[in-house]
Amino acid sequence: MDRMTLDQKLGQMIMAERASTTPDNVREFGFGAVLSGGGSAPGANLPADWVAMNDAYWMASVDDRDGRLPIPLLYAIDAIHGNANVLGATVFPHNIGLGATHDPDLIERLARMCAREVLATGLDWTFAPTLAVVGNVHWGRTYESFSSDPRLVASYADRYVRGMQGDLGRDSVIACAKHWVGDGGTTNGEDQGNTVLPESELDRVHITPYFPALEAGVLTVMASFNSWNAEKCHGHYHLLTEVLKQRMGFDGIIVSDWDGIDQLSDDYNEALRLSVNAGIDMIMVSVDWKRCLDGLRQLVDDGLVSMERIDDAVRRVLSVKARYGLFERVRPSERPWANHDSFGSAAHRALAREAVRKSLVLLKHDGSVLPVSKAARVLVAGKNADNRGHQCGGFTVAWQGVSGAEQIVGGTSIWEGIRAIAPNAVLSLDGSDANAAQHDVAIVVIGETPYAEGMGDIRRGGRVASGSGFGGPTSQLTPYGKTIELAELHPEDVAIIEAIGAKGIPVVTVMLSGRPLVVNREMEASCAFVAAWLPGSEGQGVADVLFGDYDFHGTLSFAWPKQARMSPKAAGMLFPRGFGMRMA
Ligand code: GLC
Repeated sequence: MDRMTLDQKLGQMIMAERASTTPDNVREFGFGAVLSGGGSAPGANLPADWVAMNDAYWMASVDDRDGRLPIPLLYAIDAIHGNANVLGATVFPHNIGLGATHDPDLIERLARMCAREVLATGLDWTFAPTLAVVGNVHWGRTYESFSSDPRLVASYADRYVRGMQGDLGRDSVIACAKHWVGDGGTTNGEDQGNTVLPESELDRVHITPYFPALEAGVLTVMASFNSWNAEKCHGHYHLLTEVLKQRMGFDGIIVSDWDGIDQLSDDYNEALRLSVNAGIDMIMVSVDWKRCLDGLRQLVDDGLVSMERIDDAVRRVLSVKARYGLFERVRPSERPWANHDSFGSAAHRALAREAVRKSLVLLKHDGSVLPVSKAARVLVAGKNADNRGHQCGGFTVAWQGVSGAEQIVGGTSIWEGIRAIAPNAVLSLDGSDANAAQHDVAIVVIGETPYAEGMGDIRRGGRVASGSGFGGPTSQLTPYGKTIELAELHPEDVAIIEAIGAKGIPVVTVMLSGRPLVVNREMEASCAFVAAWLPGSEGQGVADVLFGDYDFHGTLSFAWPKQARMSPKAAGMLFPRGFGMRMA
């Protein structure tokens, strides 16, 4: 630190987005980190492209010509259900499905596998685990939460961190507990909204899962967009410094969310002053990192941010890099896991497939239709029956997710999984081929299409704030829908179930969704109903269970609503947390 100039110190507090910076900028300004927002990928978006990009950034950061102090760069990404931004990655179920497994050992194994696939691309930091405890499923980020039960989230938190960070050796990546704090508790589940709670409730519900994460040594925490009692977390001295750093002893980096500090004031420098003095150590900047750097220098020159605060932030950044062994690491392309053929390997996919099996929750079974015989004449239908993109949901290749199979390289759709073990199965997406003389049973795959952050909110209307939409705010700043009643949200689903059922064919309904939805009519028209959440690339795991190779294992980690009401209390409960049937 003594050898660093002020500019070098301030550079370490910047996390710039790859599309708005270059290795030359890194060399000249000495950024602490670079990130990829959702969908921000180099070249052909293959591991080799990522490794080559990181090599260039790394070499620039350790360039010690002209007396520059070489401080190696960290590169961060949202690898939140596998390194799913990258083509060919193993994409495992989003957290809501993992919550239904109630299996902390599985969580640690998945996190370790994910760390390998992050290292294969030359990266060293992932913005995971999300420790949100979601109180209202209208929130578009419900699927990023393990559960509405803080104890279940807490039981996963340390395992996820250990899986990711391990012994901080060469098999590990830096984890990030997010979003601090109260992200899952906003009024009406509004993304980036206001969480209104007494501090005792904030502690009990939203802070609880961070203790095991800190005990496991998580090296970074991300500040949350939401407000607590109308005060933005990004500028909250009590929450960031007094609670997290002083009371809980967190000694790693608090990183801001995507331009999260900008929301504190219309005057950017004022926003910068408020956030850094509140305890933000590294600033995630989507585009204008120069304004941030100049602003920081101005604030220090004007005595509005003390050198003591700057040194504390920089010391935290450097100590995380030191604990991670970054100063001793070789360039990304020469690291043991770079371009490793375990990326998207059969072994990794088998683990993800196990997670799919364990995540499925059987909500209804009339006792006759499951398990489906492998010899049965099965009609497979529904918009999500043969769509790997829809299986994966948001934060997959693109920020808002993708549709179809083209961009989900590897893996199986649910249909492909069924076809592989039931030779007499046929696909009729709209179900129009259904014929009781030819089909013994129908498997109809319905539900939501991909979304991320506010674009997944269910609201009465209005615009939503944008998150890490690569390339600036997206045009789709509108909520996903107005109700959690599936029959209104996606009427095509109940229509196809009822049409097939009307022909006398028993229907097994499988729903892909990022949250519980009101499905009374769909369930009424089905002989069996399965919540499959967002299973990821290994759709075959669904067939494993439907055809009886494995029994159902999952149980709900969220209560299931009885009717579509904005308030969970008014919505009532059809099934409690912990509910889940077995076939046998
Ligand atoms: C997003 C999300 C955060 C993510 C970050 C970087 O807006 O809030 O979870 O890690 O930006 O993509």
